[in-house]
Amino acid sequence: MSKSSEFQYYSAPGRVCFYGEHQDYLKLKVVPAAINLRTLIGIKDNDLKRIRVKSQDTASSDDFSISKKISLVKNEFDYLRAIIISLQKEDLVENLTGLDVTISSSLPIGSGLSSSAALLVAWTTALNDRFQLNLNKEEIALLSFKAENNILGVNCGIMDQYSSSLGGIIGLDCDGPPYKITKHSTAFSSLVLGDSCVRRSANEPLTILKNQLYSGIKNLQKVVPFNLKEITFEELTRLKSTLTPNEQKRLHGAIVIRDITKEAQRNLSKKSNLNLPLLGELLTKQHDALRDLLEVSIPILDNMVNASIKAGALGAKLTGAGFGGCIVALAPGKEKEVAAAIEHSGGKAIICQVDSEGGRKEK
Ligand code: GLA
Repeated sequence: MSKSSEFQYYSAPGRVCFYGEHQDYLKLKVVPAAINLRTLIGIKDNDLKRIRVKSQDTASSDDFSISKKISLVKNEFDYLRAIIISLQKEDLVENLTGLDVTISSSLPIGSGLSSSAALLVAWTTALNDRFQLNLNKEEIALLSFKAENNILGVNCGIMDQYSSSLGGIIGLDCDGPPYKITKHSTAFSSLVLGDSCVRRSANEPLTILKNQLYSGIKNLQKVVPFNLKEITFEELTRLKSTLTPNEQKRLHGAIVIRDITKEAQRNLSKKSNLNLPLLGELLTKQHDALRDLLEVSIPILDNMVNASIKAGALGAKLTGAGFGGCIVALAPGKEKEVAAAIEHSGGKAIICQVDSEGGRKEK
């Protein structure tokens, strides 16, 4: 896009994680799905060499000059600053000029649906188009990940940014770069979300869990050649004297979720005859591991999962880092009943669809 005095709009979706929760930063496989709740960014040129941002949802704003020394100020727009810092660091942008920016979103913030990745990807998609950066969707995802991880210091993996940038249901092998990506069919397109309305920053649970997992891995590596892609639960049990009880539990959880993800991917890779009851059951099994082994669930999430299943869902699990946020339930044909059950157990139900499109320019 060339210089414009009219707002041009770009958007990117949030995501749910079907399989592979807390696996991305362990370089294992994940299966996220983009959903049709999006963050929308409008941009319009100004001649001020400044980025002037307004949120349509919160009435908050930001205003900073474009220079080589953009700093973070710990407000909700640091995501925008971090992307520019990342682009500058990688020498990907020289010709930045001033922009007026508006932001609005249908994604609840801090709810495990990747509102931050949607903002990062929508903004990078906008800058990519406006300043002709020639980044493809994977490059937009990687840049967004680096901004969140390296610049903003969030302990996240790559799942959210790739899901938001690429859209659809993807299988993502996080052992890279390069990362191997498989597109899965959107056979279960309609989903029910249950928002606990418990808001939290994903960084805290991520940091605690990641530290326990990494220190467990380090301890094992001291005694045996250790590969988390292959180790079995029996082998882990044999090595348990090397680990603290918490490390053992967390690694056990990582192995269970790794194997659930593999089984789900085998099924999702079929061209036809998806086994939906099995895929649902695997969601619930994963929730059990998140609750009992990684210990990142909270009672309202467990209650919504149980209520969904009682109301006819094939399976359900918390989505995102945990300790709050949302559950996702797979309930083909029973969406309304499951939504009612979620509301009854104290959550806010949202029926949504898998969105086959990732970051995009709006027409
Ligand atoms: C957050 C992180 C992701 C992932 C999930 C847990 O959403 O941003 O990278 O680690 O938690 O699966």
